[in-house]
Amino acid sequence: MLHRCITAFVGLCLCAGPVSAQKLDSLLARMTLDEKLGQLNLLSAAGENGRASNDQIALARAGKLGGLFNVIGAENTAQVQRVAVTESRLKIPLLFGLDVIHGYRTTFPIPLGEAASFDPEAAQATARAAGLEAAAAGISWTYAPMVDIARDPRWGRIAEGSGEDPYLGSLLAAARVRGFQENIFATVKHFAGYGAAEAGREYNETEISERTMREIYLPPFKAAVDAGVASLMSAFNDNAGVPSSGNAWLTDTVLRREWRFKGFVVSDWTSVAELIPHGVAGGPSEAGRRALTAGVDMDMQSSIYMDSLPALVRSGRIPMAVVDSAVMRILRAKQRLGLFKDPYRPRTAPAMDSTRALARRVAGESIVLLKNDGSTLPLDKNTSAIAVIGPLADNKPEPLGPWHTMGQPEDVVTVLAGIKAKVPATTQVMYAQGSGVEDTSTAGFAEAVAAAKQAKVAILVLGERGEMSGEAASRSMIGLPGVQEQLLEAVAATGTPVVLVLMNGRPLTIEWAAEHVPAIVETWFLGVEAGNATADVLFGDVNPSGRLPVTFPRSLGQIPIYYNHRNTGRPFGANNKFSSKYLDIPNTPRYPFGYGLSYTTFGYRDVKVTNPRIRATDTLVVSVTLTNTGSREGTEVAQLYVRDEVASVARPVRELKAFQRVTLKPNESRTLTLRVAAQDLGFYGLNMKRVVEPGAFRVYVGPSSAEGQEARFEVVR
Ligand code: NOJ
Repeated sequence: MLHRCITAFVGLCLCAGPVSAQKLDSLLARMTLDEKLGQLNLLSAAGENGRASNDQIALARAGKLGGLFNVIGAENTAQVQRVAVTESRLKIPLLFGLDVIHGYRTTFPIPLGEAASFDPEAAQATARAAGLEAAAAGISWTYAPMVDIARDPRWGRIAEGSGEDPYLGSLLAAARVRGFQENIFATVKHFAGYGAAEAGREYNETEISERTMREIYLPPFKAAVDAGVASLMSAFNDNAGVPSSGNAWLTDTVLRREWRFKGFVVSDWTSVAELIPHGVAGGPSEAGRRALTAGVDMDMQSSIYMDSLPALVRSGRIPMAVVDSAVMRILRAKQRLGLFKDPYRPRTAPAMDSTRALARRVAGESIVLLKNDGSTLPLDKNTSAIAVIGPLADNKPEPLGPWHTMGQPEDVVTVLAGIKAKVPATTQVMYAQGSGVEDTSTAGFAEAVAAAKQAKVAILVLGERGEMSGEAASRSMIGLPGVQEQLLEAVAATGTPVVLVLMNGRPLTIEWAAEHVPAIVETWFLGVEAGNATADVLFGDVNPSGRLPVTFPRSLGQIPIYYNHRNTGRPFGANNKFSSKYLDIPNTPRYPFGYGLSYTTFGYRDVKVTNPRIRATDTLVVSVTLTNTGSREGTEVAQLYVRDEVASVARPVRELKAFQRVTLKPNESRTLTLRVAAQDLGFYGLNMKRVVEPGAFRVYVGPSSAEGQEARFEVVR
């Protein structure tokens, strides 16, 4: 299996024995400079209907192409591959890339939503299924997972990652890499710090200190490298003036020297050419030289390596050895993928029944119950009349989210359809759209209000269009768009109990709803099974177990807001004017990281540290007794956070270090054991070396980053 091969590659590659390595060396020796630079050249299919253009086919024939992306369908990929492996001089196969982000045809929840499951096994399973569907369409390489940590919900690409936490993000990064790489190569992106775009504005500069880079932004990349990821994508952003696609510290010092990464680095779309507008290169040759010598092996879409570097190599301004290293990384990747032996990689897509079943399960796990006053939920299936209202209630395209590859609206079960399928024929289900997502018209309100008046409960499905998050989709205001909040208020004014179902790609500010609506369910963009999974939760067939992978602010002014912040020298004090706070709102978020309700309740007791004095080489062992104190079976995500009380540099007030998903029957108790390697308590000290410092720590075990039972331990020399 590919996965085993790649994992082995990190240490000792089982696929590339000495004979093959020699073959690659002799292949390299036979290559002309153009053929070498050709391997570093990656273009997006420019033909009609997902095909390569004639020019691109000619490039493949001339050996001036390392890979293509956005070629759609097995026939189209095979057509160009045939030219590469039969008509080019050296017959080197092409890589076929595609952004398979959260499903190929079967669309799973967006990555941020899936992160709410706190279930790496689920993330691995959806990546595996997506990879197999893509492989059956001739794809050998995905540009996923995106592992950018994001602390600013204005940034639309927050939808594509795992949220704000490096520990959760690392587990999910590794799981997704493993899942994809059972069938195709994965690419972790965007290396690095892209998620810290200032003011949440897409492609904006970042200003990340080395400590924060290493402790917050880099860990998911490191986890992916350790899991054997084949490639990394260099990001668009500049950090403190150094663009990521020309940053030798990132792509050489850290990635190759410190982490011993043996795969290859691909640029983002024209990010090599963008070194010019960044202002660090005067023209294409300089841009290409900077990127290649920094360690960016493959040039996506700029054509600069192919067109502008030959002269620099011939004149000696770029040593041939630099070109050769990059080419060898691409050739080795092709070999590991098995392309030299099997360039067409025929695969059979899994049956849609099985992928849909997986999509429904994972979508159910991704839903977060934010509020449930007076046990409004779950609803009784025999409720006599239900009003389903809102622009997203019977909408097929939007649940597919911002980047759904080959996902088709016709495959989507809408929330209205899911509800209708759930309730008996005796339940009257009324539907009113009410408004558009971004419209300013309130003309549809009257119909919605009338439906709500006739109903026992009104379910409002509100939020964003899919394309309001994702790439190039930053928002300066993150409330409900258009007149949706007014629609919500109008329906709530009828006095009929309201359930708000949110569909969105980022945390929203929903203060009015949080104050006035009894039940709120966060569904993100759940993919093809959105409606069924939502109905499963609304009617109690699935007890919600999702937890927020990202903080929900009260207001825009709190951003950036994240749970693992430092304490400051003047932490909040209610009676202290000169403490760190706002005059007009609390410091606390609306909903904290890790938060989510269930239809049952859980009690934590007896948090104990088994070994309260540990050495830097030990593993901390913490036990806690968890009890289902409610009346339904449910799943809790028990979370363990630490706080280093005194250190040579100020440490976060809390850091997630372990969690467990645990399903308990009513009254059932279980004693959980959570473990943290003392090494994972380390940080970058004053001299920027990683250190586990002796001293006192607190540990909290509980249901979110804002709660938990406390215990103490000490790291000793
Ligand atoms: C630009 C995006 O930033 C990146 O994530 C994506 O993989 C490439 N385009 C290719 O589509």
